[in-house]
Amino acid sequence: MTKRNPTEHLAEDDAGLRRAAEIVAAGGLVAFPTETVYGLGADARNGEAVAAIYAAKGRPRFNPLIVHVPDLATARRYGQFGPAALQLAAAFWPGPLSLVVPLTPDHGLSELVTAGLATVALRVPAHPLAEAHLRQSAAPLAAPSANPSGRLSPTTAQHVLHGLDGQIDAVLDGGPCAVGLESTIVAPGPPLQLLRAGGVAADQIAAEMGAPFVPHDPGKITSPGQLAAHYAPDSPIRLEVVRPAANEVHLGFGPVGGDLNLSEAGDLTEAAANLFGHLHKLDRLARPIAVAPVPLVGLGVAINDRLARAAAAKAG
Ligand code: TXA
Ligand code: MG
Repeated sequence: MTKRNPTEHLAEDDAGLRRAAEIVAAGGLVAFPTETVYGLGADARNGEAVAAIYAAKGRPRFNPLIVHVPDLATARRYGQFGPAALQLAAAFWPGPLSLVVPLTPDHGLSELVTAGLATVALRVPAHPLAEAHLRQSAAPLAAPSANPSGRLSPTTAQHVLHGLDGQIDAVLDGGPCAVGLESTIVAPGPPLQLLRAGGVAADQIAAEMGAPFVPHDPGKITSPGQLAAHYAPDSPIRLEVVRPAANEVHLGFGPVGGDLNLSEAGDLTEAAANLFGHLHKLDRLARPIAVAPVPLVGLGVAINDRLARAAAAKAG
């Protein structure tokens, strides 16, 4: 599929799912909801389809992509699961956790998905429409977040269309995403390594494994998602702001109010779910954005990580 104009807006029903699967089978691009953010999916075994993901997003580099599957049994066709990986899958799948494991010898995935690495990042999303789409398509789906490279991740079908209308074949509309932050990425090891903070809090994973993470050396980038400049809105961003300047719009948290508040109750799960949506809204006002302090505990670690990247991207 090379002609991608206009993008089809597919409903959450049998006809929508059939059409989405047809497009995937033809090597096309279908954005679909997961519990974290909308993914831009293509058959991970089809090199041309995967290349089209990079083209649509305008990704400057071929970063390895997360491969989405409907269950652990399917995941094991592509990745080798040792005891630690199996324990993590049992505890957190389906859910916002991606596991980086060694490839199986006969995985059949495009090299573009793995960027030539000997490992693959696999995830079973906890979203009924994602699961239905994966089963109907009967394909492993490589899916980065469905936004132009370096821009905010989409948590609604409208966000997807705002960034990629005309660049992708279709979007399956499942309403807003519940978690709102990308998946946590872990190499189960041993040693247990955190490659990206995300929708499952790192301390929850360490508690499940009864072992702390091996500290990640920030000088050594093993997951390209850790590059500083990422997740950028158009407006400049300032962090840890209690009293914004007159020209700034204020994104609040808890008692530190603001024009929009991530969670008036100070609930980090609610804040994560609101993060990208609120940033999208404030970005449309075309004024500098000041963000209230968000505590560095639980999901607050991932929220601060995304905010720091957004601020760093604007700093240069
Ligand atoms: O929640 C999510 O994870 C979303 C939804 C759509 O599932 N997807 C997502 O994908 O965030 P993406 O492409 O934006 O992030 C992929 C991240 C990158 O940072 C990449 O470097 C890392 O996964 N990754 C993929 N394969 C890897 C591997 N073999 N080793 C280390 N990191 C890997
Ligand atoms: Mg992304």
